[in-house]
Amino acid sequence: MKVTAIGTGYVGLVTGACLAEMGNHVVCLDVNPEKIRILNEGGIPIHEPGLEEVVKRNVAAGRLQFTTDVDMAVQHGTLLFIGVGTPPDEDGSADLQYVVAAARSIGQRMTDYKVIVDKSTVPVGTADKVRAAVKEELVKRGLGDMSFAVVSNPEFLKEGAAVEDFMKPDRVVVGSDDEQATLLMRAIYSPFNRTQDRMLVMDVRSAELTKYAANAMLATRISFMNELALLAEKVGADIDLVRRGIGSDTRIGYQFLYAGTGYGGSCFPKDVKALVRTAADTGIPLKVLTAVEEANERQKRVLVDKVVERFGADLKGRRFAVWGLAFKPNTDDMREAPSLVVIDELTRRGATVAAYDPVSMAEAARVLGPRDDVSLVERAEAALQGADALLIVTEWKEFRTPDFDAIKGTLKAPVVFDGRNLYDPKLMKALGIEYRGIGRG
Ligand code: NAI
Repeated sequence: MKVTAIGTGYVGLVTGACLAEMGNHVVCLDVNPEKIRILNEGGIPIHEPGLEEVVKRNVAAGRLQFTTDVDMAVQHGTLLFIGVGTPPDEDGSADLQYVVAAARSIGQRMTDYKVIVDKSTVPVGTADKVRAAVKEELVKRGLGDMSFAVVSNPEFLKEGAAVEDFMKPDRVVVGSDDEQATLLMRAIYSPFNRTQDRMLVMDVRSAELTKYAANAMLATRISFMNELALLAEKVGADIDLVRRGIGSDTRIGYQFLYAGTGYGGSCFPKDVKALVRTAADTGIPLKVLTAVEEANERQKRVLVDKVVERFGADLKGRRFAVWGLAFKPNTDDMREAPSLVVIDELTRRGATVAAYDPVSMAEAARVLGPRDDVSLVERAEAALQGADALLIVTEWKEFRTPDFDAIKGTLKAPVVFDGRNLYDPKLMKALGIEYRGIGRG
């Protein structure tokens, strides 16, 4: 089939590459010429395990191409997947300007039946807005009768495992009220559905809400555990043992029960905000989710609170090693990363920071910019030199069993603030390292 991905970011590039892998002819369009240049020169603009191989194989096979040429891209696909950003507006609602611009650019150029697929995370009612924008452009061209469908197909992939998630989805949600469009969506997703039909076809509004509901539920689990961690500390319990105790209940399950430095990334924070906003606008305030967001804001500061408790509020002259900058492991994405709050709070109090991340160093240099109070170092151990303490912010595998002797021997005094509860407090005590985790009273 012929497919166009509009927006070649984490979602658009993975969607385009994985659909090409199944034999489709895919054009990935982006308005960012730099991104397209990198891809056309054989590079990958993001870190995503396994993506490079899939992209290279399908480019070589002539099934995947990258362009900034909107005319060509719109003409090419029968299915047009919109995967552009939906960042938060000032009031927390999702900013739909990129989605609507993409819809208009389709309406301005299409010459035959198209299925326009909303893959971006968008509030309930967006498919109607997309339909109206396309129609308006068609009418301007005197083509008001031209037929097209708008389908909601929210994406559930996780950064860091995006290719695997796309290839083996738990489910594929399709919101559609157009029979032909539903058939085409069934066809395009059939290779991902071979062992079991994982496609859930529903009305458009339910599909749009499903995506927000999923992220809101996951964020709720995180904030719930983070709040319990605060309590565990006060009452002398260990949240990690509590996690195991409740996760073993199959009704609860083990996933997303880790206390830490708060959720970040490009999805949870903005999606929680957008859903809270939608709910407030409709007069059904989501009290639980409002609390989830408040708890998360507080949680991002918990690690630095512990530093202040140990070293005092004035951190002038102190230096801290920070391990982990990406918002989670296996990605270089630093959007809304807890590390940014940690670095900001430490430096605002006068400290300097030496930071290391296995893959986000280039992204960190771009996001943080050149500054005197933060140095980005090439190796984890190098960050420890002359530091008063180590703060662990992202749970990369390589931090799980580090050289504890080096930590102890290199830090000025052996103090570790572990925002991801990677180590056994008893072991750390035995090693003579002062250890503060999250919720480990
Ligand atoms: P991204 O920021 O990585 O990529 C968006 C791309 O769209 C950018 O390269 C931008 O230049 C391009 N773009 C903007 N307007 C355009 C236009 N009119 N025509 C062509 N290209 C245009 O964003 P990401 O992370 O891929 O997210 C996209 C959407 O998918 C968002 O709504 C997000 O919430 C959702 N999503 C993201 C997931 C993730 O893990 N990143 C997972 C599931 C959903």
